[in-house]
This record gives sequence, C-alpha cells and structure tokens, in this order.
Amino acid sequence: MKRLSIFVSGNGTNLQRIADYFANNPEVKIVNVVCNNPKAYSIERAKNLGIPLRMINRQEFNSEAFIQEMKSLDLDLIVLAGFLWKIPEDLVKAFPKKIVNIHPALLPKYGGKGFYGEHVHEAVVAAKEAFSGITIHYVNEIYDSGEIILQAYTKLDEKETPDSLAAKIHQLEQAYFPVVIEQVLLQQH
Ligand code: GRF
Repeated sequence: MKRLSIFVSGNGTNLQRIADYFANNPEVKIVNVVCNNPKAYSIERAKNLGIPLRMINRQEFNSEAFIQEMKSLDLDLIVLAGFLWKIPEDLVKAFPKKIVNIHPALLPKYGGKGFYGEHVHEAVVAAKEAFSGITIHYVNEIYDSGEIILQAYTKLDEKETPDSLAAKIHQLEQAYFPVVIEQVLLQQH
C-alpha cells in the first residue's frame, strides 16, 4: 500500500479531488493532512474525509522533530496541494523525489516567491500571455524549480480575466493532479 501525506494552506479543492479519486483504491492511503493555516477550509474537508489532521506553526515546521514525525509515517509521497510555505531544505533532503507540488502556471515563468494564488493569474493576464497552464513538479531546495513531471496548457481568450483564468486552471488541476500522483506512485519501486 502507498502512503500519502497532503500539505494544504487553503480551500483544499485539490485535497478533496485527490481524496475522492483514491477513495475506492485500497492501494493508496492518505495518512494525514498537514495544514499551516487555522482558517483554511481544508480543515473542514480533512475532518469530513476522516483523515487525521496535523496543524503546524512555523517553528514546528522548521524543526527536526517534524521531519522525524513525517519519517515515522513511512510515506511514499508528500503532495503539496496549495501549500504556501517553502519546504525547508532538510525536509526536502529527507524525502528525495518524494515531494510533488502543483503550480498554477507554466514554470519557469510565473514561479518563485510572491507567485501564488491570484497573483499568478493577475500577472499572466496583465502580460497578455497566449497560454497558461499547470505545472506538476518534484520539489527540490529551490522554490518552484524541481524536475517537471507534467505541464498542461490552456489558451487565454481576449477577454480573459484573472478569475476566468483561475477557473480554467482549476479544471486542469482537477483533471490532472490525481492521475499524475497515481503515475508517480506506480513508477516508484
Ligand atoms: C491551486 O491553484 C494550486 O495550484 C495553488 O493553490 C491553489 C490551491 O487550491 N498552488 P486548493 O486549496 O486546492 O483549492
């Protein structure tokens, strides 16, 4: 059986979709949800899904104890699903090629510090890009720059707004993220 931990900071639509996708798959278990934001709707979702919830503050998150705690869970993959803190280097080192992130744009453009949530879509629309999309990638020590697993594209319309683009990106995320997670798990030995 494959064991996942899902890190979240916000609404948790990706968390919900991933949990629903694997709900009837006895080979995949979400062992916990790690959340850094006490106001996140993800908390409700984790409770409703019956998944153990681990709230963290910054100090805990950066501690050796947290790494050990995560290691003790015997995880196959950590999934960052709208998680807004940078992953500490030691945590990355403890889970080599075992952390994946979804970014709501086509990296390397519109990545790095400050490019999250609506800020990404605002910047893409303001630049009149012809395309945007999603990037699912492994997490390394440098923000938004780990090896890319998959990018999926969507076209911008002439009248595109950050909100309308967000909706398109959201559809891509829902369609691709669980499937890519499944593929990553299948590739592991
Ligand atoms: C997604 O757009 C994800 O790509 C981004 O944050 C958003 C999270 O949405 N990094 P949700 O919390 O899964 O609803």
